[in-house]
Amino acid sequence: MNEITYISFTSPILKKRAQLIAGSLGLELIDSKELQENVVVVDHEYISLKIAGFKKEFYVDFLSGEIQHRVQHPTKESILSACGVKKGKTPSILDLTGGWGRDGYILANAGCKVLLLERDPIVHLLLEDGISRLKQQRSINIASMNIEAKDYLSRFMGDDAPDIIYYDPMRAQGKKAPKNKKEMEVLRSMVGVNNDLEQIVAMALKSAKERVVVKSANSKLDLSIKPELTLKGVNTKFDVFFTVNKN
Ligand SMILES: C[S@@+](CC[C@H](N)C(=O)[O-])C[C@H]1O[C@@H](n2cnc3c(N)ncnc32)[C@H](O)[C@@H]1O
Repeated sequence: MNEITYISFTSPILKKRAQLIAGSLGLELIDSKELQENVVVVDHEYISLKIAGFKKEFYVDFLSGEIQHRVQHPTKESILSACGVKKGKTPSILDLTGGWGRDGYILANAGCKVLLLERDPIVHLLLEDGISRLKQQRSINIASMNIEAKDYLSRFMGDDAPDIIYYDPMRAQGKKAPKNKKEMEVLRSMVGVNNDLEQIVAMALKSAKERVVVKSANSKLDLSIKPELTLKGVNTKFDVFFTVNKN
């Protein structure tokens, strides 16, 4: 696992900002020349991660070519069908596993109100940074919160329960998995894999008004309950569970 304990900045003017983040996340502030790996870097344009073993820097960029390609070809996005999004129907979505925010962005871009939960404070920092840059460019209904999904589901569910709960757990890299995108590899190296699938899905089913959608690679879900609907993409599969709260 890659543990990130340092934060750095690329220009003296950014020191104060880096210091504030260091204080709130318990990171050690260092000069950018001191360490090149496993460090959060505060730059004028974005906050990024430099990780051992990867040449590129990682940051959340909703306006990147790859995401824009997904946005411009919405019919290829089985995530929209899985979440019941169609013309005139844009449900509210609680995404329990924010990560790089890409799935959440596809849903928000289609007009849904999306709240992304992310329990890892550093991943959340990058996510929030990406969201604030996105919102400087356009108006969109997406927000994030640094919280464990189980805490959120047990504390905050009430009258404003979401229509859909979306869950994309981190899994071990399977043999048949596509040579994984570096972004997901890095995330896995930082946050590890999820072993609480059953518990989270059970909690989500009690909370969502309409459905719970679980994303997985094309492997079988290790769950005692069976999905009512499964939608397959190229390297992805969405299992859909309709909830008793359906109205
Ligand atoms: C597979 S990634 C999600 C990727 C995301 N769907 C995207 O499009 O970028 C899983 C992320 O969810 C976070 N996570 C996993 N379990 C969580 C939980 N129980 N509560 C909150 N966040 C969680 C992990 O830290 C990781 O960043």
